Amino acid sequence: MVDLDFKGKDILSGAQFSRVEIEHVMDVAEEMRQRLEKQRALDIMRGYVLGALFFEPSTRTRLSFETAMLRLGGGVTGFASAGVSSSAKGESLADTIHTVDQYVDVIAMRHPQIGSARIAADVAEAPVINGGDGAGQHPTQALLDLFTIRSERGAVDGNTIVLCGDLKYGRTVHAGVELYKHYDCRLIFVAPDSLRMPAEIVARLREFGVPVEETTDLESALAEATVLYMTRIQKERFDDPAEYARLKGSYVLTRAMVERINPDVTIMHPLPRVDEITPDVDALPGAAYFRQARNGIYTRMALIALVTGAV
Ligand code: NCD
Repeated sequence: MVDLDFKGKDILSGAQFSRVEIEHVMDVAEEMRQRLEKQRALDIMRGYVLGALFFEPSTRTRLSFETAMLRLGGGVTGFASAGVSSSAKGESLADTIHTVDQYVDVIAMRHPQIGSARIAADVAEAPVINGGDGAGQHPTQALLDLFTIRSERGAVDGNTIVLCGDLKYGRTVHAGVELYKHYDCRLIFVAPDSLRMPAEIVARLREFGVPVEETTDLESALAEATVLYMTRIQKERFDDPAEYARLKGSYVLTRAMVERINPDVTIMHPLPRVDEITPDVDALPGAAYFRQARNGIYTRMALIALVTGAV
């Protein structure tokens, strides 16, 4: 019997999920989507409070976590930058979490340090949901990405997923591959040499039996893709600004490229984009990135409700 009880669980990494658990989260997210089509908000989490602790910049992740909780009928507190929290006075992460844990029922957190979500989870009684720990993991993004693939393509199995851009520092792709590996998908990684997917991740995927190819050529990969997942070069992770300047603009997807090479491809991006996708792509039917952002609401509603035991 598979244990699908998420109550009290932390959501820290894509690697913690089995295929049945992923499917369950997506099914609950789909139910949330359908319920929100009929009513503006649900009333299943009245009295519950989400602590949204964002020590790093965010638009979609923070606002969609907060909106998700509000649409579940609960309340929200938190901060949007480290500068306005007591970490600016020198408080340790553990102490901040220990304190907020006295106030709230569930914590969503983003922090620049890899492993920070684990530290928070060890301190907090309340479930901790990792909204991004440095270049580490971003499991809620990965789940909403998978939900998007399922809703755009009809199924996750059978896809050729091309991940393009900063695969070294991009936490959305690090979390994503941990989910894709449970499906019958072919993965093609497109990155400049110095921003390739970490070798240990590639080796682990191959060991798991996932067909993985690596290339620097976006056009040849695009020709094979059913899903193209573009990512931003992660400027804030570079020690050397000159290196960032050199790599910025490595891959730019244009409407002409899509129309010429693969008009049926589903185009995704966790956003924010800088210059990886030109704005003229937005009007193509396959441009899914704003629908993907919307799916963040349903997926995060599902996760909040599951870890608090509200569903
Ligand atoms: C991503 C992130 O923060 O890792 N954004 C997001 O959560 N949608 C991607 C990025 O910042 O490039």
